[in-house]
Amino acid sequence: LNNGLARTPQMGWNSWNFFACKIDETVIKETADALVSSGLADLGYIHVNIDDCWSNLLRDSTGQLVPHPETFPSGIKVLADYIHSLGLKLGVYSDAGLFTCQVRPGSLFHEVDDADIFASWGVDYLKYDNCFNLGIKPIKRYPPMRDALNATGRSIFYSLCDWGVDDPALWAKGVGNSWRTTDDINDTWASMTAIADLNNKWAAYAGPGGWNDPDMLEVGNGGMTYEEYRGHFSIWALMKAPLLIGCDVRNMTAETFEILTNKEVIAVNQDPLGVQGRKIQVDGEDDCQQVWSGPLTGDRMVVALWNRCSEPATITASWDAIGLESTISVSVRDLWQHKDVTDNASVSFEAQVDAHDCHMYVLTPQTVSHSDV
Ligand code: GLA
Repeated sequence: LNNGLARTPQMGWNSWNFFACKIDETVIKETADALVSSGLADLGYIHVNIDDCWSNLLRDSTGQLVPHPETFPSGIKVLADYIHSLGLKLGVYSDAGLFTCQVRPGSLFHEVDDADIFASWGVDYLKYDNCFNLGIKPIKRYPPMRDALNATGRSIFYSLCDWGVDDPALWAKGVGNSWRTTDDINDTWASMTAIADLNNKWAAYAGPGGWNDPDMLEVGNGGMTYEEYRGHFSIWALMKAPLLIGCDVRNMTAETFEILTNKEVIAVNQDPLGVQGRKIQVDGEDDCQQVWSGPLTGDRMVVALWNRCSEPATITASWDAIGLESTISVSVRDLWQHKDVTDNASVSFEAQVDAHDCHMYVLTPQTVSHSDV
């Protein structure tokens, strides 16, 4: 969507994956505080997004949405002011249907009123879900909220969440700043890998202003190993997915923190070229030895060697497969070891990767030095 936002994928936090409906204004404020004190905000995680269950079960007598009086007694405006005072942005959630998925009031046919009240509260981001949609096509239900948000004059990030129904990659570029391509993720290896593959299909449609959204991060929620979460974060970054943390950032382990704060992987995600990397080569049983790659600014490439097999494997990325000219030599930097592996790789690059682990590299073409000329 050409509203000036989402020049690179959005980064921040969302309440759903860890808290589900167990949210209140204290949790949101403490999370915002933790984003700042941990340094995550400085790395770009600036959106604090409240998911479903923030609103009361009914609209008020004038038809307006109201925050739940017990869990958000101070109201969203006060919360937004607090979040803004920390230099962060506040997101809320609604639904392009009669009700949200947890049966709070939806915004279908209330788009203008709801956009107005979100803007009046100082909301910076709207996630817009797809439950109770009366069987009306997403392409009919999502643009009215875009127009209503636009009409408020406030800059509001518009995140479509129609779970990939009717292939939003094909039509949502002019509607939203990101669009979900799949059903909900859950905190398992099987779910995460399946979603990566589904999202990969739409790589050609992502770019500055509008991104494919394979759903929020599960890193730190406990259902996967350190190596699996490292792959999850690497592949999401490479796919130019939104990096929305889904764990309790007030209580992160050192491993979770290390993954989420990997500046070199974040830089891949936020590279201004904005081209979604993709799965470009598979090998082994069930295609479990995988090479994912994509272009970065400065003629660089990102390459992930993702071992989805249950045994260690040597995975090879050939220049041919990743689209480098056969004569080019590159330096290779390992983004998880934080070191340069070689300054002179040609034709291909390979590494031994543990089961369910993922290596990630940036390849930089060698510049011809003056003494060589
Ligand atoms: C849907 C969405 C999720 C989450 C829940 C909340 O399932 O896809 O991301 O927002 O609703 O109810």
